[in-house]
Amino acid sequence: MNKLLSLLFTLLLITSCGTKKDLRVDKHSFSEPHNVRTTHLDLDVNVDFETERISGIANYTIENLTGSRELVLDANGLRIDKVTSAGKDCKFSLSAQDSILGKALIITIEKDAKQVAIHYQSAPNAKALQWLNPKQTAGKTHPFLFTQSQAILARTWIPCQDSPGVRFSYTAKVQVPKDLMAVMSAENPTEKNSEGIYTFRMEQAIPAYLMALGVGNLEFQNLGEHTGIYAEPEMIEKAAYEFAETEAMLKIAEDMYGKYAWERYDMLLLPPSFPFGGMENPRLTFVTPTILAGDRSLTALIAHELAHSWSGNLVTNKTWDDFWLNEGFTVYFERRIMERMENKDYADMLALLGKQDLENTVESLGHNHKDTRLKLDLLQRDPDDGMTDIAYEKGFFLLRLIEETVGRKQFDLFLKNYFTENAFKVMDTEEFVVYINSQLLDAEPEAKEKIRLEEWIYGSGIPDNCPEVNSTKFKDIDKALLYFKKGYPLENIKSDKWSSHEWLHFLRKLPKNSTLNDLKKLDTAFEFTTSGNAEILNAWFQLTIPVGYKSADKALENFLMTVGRRKFLQPLYESLYAKDPAKARRIYKNARENYHSVSTQTLDAIVL
Ligand code: BES
Ligand code: ZN
Repeated sequence: MNKLLSLLFTLLLITSCGTKKDLRVDKHSFSEPHNVRTTHLDLDVNVDFETERISGIANYTIENLTGSRELVLDANGLRIDKVTSAGKDCKFSLSAQDSILGKALIITIEKDAKQVAIHYQSAPNAKALQWLNPKQTAGKTHPFLFTQSQAILARTWIPCQDSPGVRFSYTAKVQVPKDLMAVMSAENPTEKNSEGIYTFRMEQAIPAYLMALGVGNLEFQNLGEHTGIYAEPEMIEKAAYEFAETEAMLKIAEDMYGKYAWERYDMLLLPPSFPFGGMENPRLTFVTPTILAGDRSLTALIAHELAHSWSGNLVTNKTWDDFWLNEGFTVYFERRIMERMENKDYADMLALLGKQDLENTVESLGHNHKDTRLKLDLLQRDPDDGMTDIAYEKGFFLLRLIEETVGRKQFDLFLKNYFTENAFKVMDTEEFVVYINSQLLDAEPEAKEKIRLEEWIYGSGIPDNCPEVNSTKFKDIDKALLYFKKGYPLENIKSDKWSSHEWLHFLRKLPKNSTLNDLKKLDTAFEFTTSGNAEILNAWFQLTIPVGYKSADKALENFLMTVGRRKFLQPLYESLYAKDPAKARRIYKNARENYHSVSTQTLDAIVL
């Protein structure tokens, strides 16, 4: 009996040793960077607009930490033709397709291999890529391609360890049609060349989600010593005017939280189908043309993407569950930059609009919903589905609470050290809690008790110690609203000095039960329907759709046909669908081909 037991025990021991413990920290990547990690990428690709494919070689320098015989990469929709190491073919296999993660590309390597080259081709429907025909651009004469890799789409155009915890430097050679120019999240050319061959260098190590490529009929214009703008020639003057303050923002940011680590800060102005407002691709922020208001009133978005050069690109969230460490810090930093660019009142307008967004998000998700926690749980989910305003605005308000409790001077010192000490590293939520306690809060037990950090991070909803924001500017708008509600003539409202933010507050606070006649009066007085400001148009359509204000129908349809920014499209289609599903479907069917996969993935679920 004893013998049998000990035999059983030994057997148990053997099998438990045989099953490898899963050491992966990132549930959204198949890669095993704790065994073998990629440290540098040399990319050599051709961009083919005919077949809508990117093809070529991803040549990695690798570091083998455990003497493993396998390099594991992420791939989604890629055709892998061949893998070599030191000139010799390597065995490789692709796992079964996971609907969210794609496939693991498992490459057999020698223990002492230093380099592995993957010959591959992307699929025409690669999710990161949007191939635009000339009609979808400003110039109407040349096609355009852009990538959007965050969160887990880099693997649809480059085989890579697609996890924010894996950083690599890169060089690239990109062949494009001769009349187009290519730019990347790297050191960039400023002029076209006649061969259509462009080379790039990113010396600093970055995670795969910051890999980015744009190809189009582009021109460059300097904005300052370290800043500039790439855009189609038709848009470049307008963009240069709008973003003229970028260099000043950069100086302010450096002054607050330490030297800018990426040498240059340029921007690429995209066609309107870009699914986001902005994307913080290092050295080259991608930006939507919907912030070209003509009066520089929507440039907080530039401050936001610039701020990511510290929060996100320097100190990077370890997994997408820690997304708030990227976005919450960035919103906080963004508003601090805007406070110095403008004034406190201006930053408070942004904070108040943000608070409205936060309240709406919590309201619609439900106060107890787990996606209202800062620390997310995205296991077996597409990270994109859990990335709401919570990370941005609840994150912001937590940091603002800490600032108000410990004092700005102390908090700034803390943040500066946080960015310096953790530069080019990853941070997760638990580590952050340990860090802020040891560096700041343990020495201030009273402040610590007031803040209730753990409740903010691991609890749902909005904690009752959320900072109040008062905006004197919005008080004036509230007066104007009262004036309107009482039926006084709108001509008497002095709105000529209102910025986009004041208009947004005004539109958001107009009674939800406004009548057709109300809307007509408002439109006559303020000409919302013909506004060139996308934020204002969007807020206006939110009022006109439920009421069925026909005079705005054409402008709405035109907006939906051209703009691909998900933040606008999602609520607009939701209310359009609620009002008139057939109409929503008809417009969506026509417009869908103009949207990036990031947007269609969200909208298909609403409209189709
Ligand atoms: N990094 C984000 C965009 C993003 C988030 C892409 C998650 C993919 C997954 C970017 O910095 C951002 O936050 N953009 C905002 C700008 C705004 C908050 C000023 C946007 O696009 O609306
Ligand atoms: Zn951001």
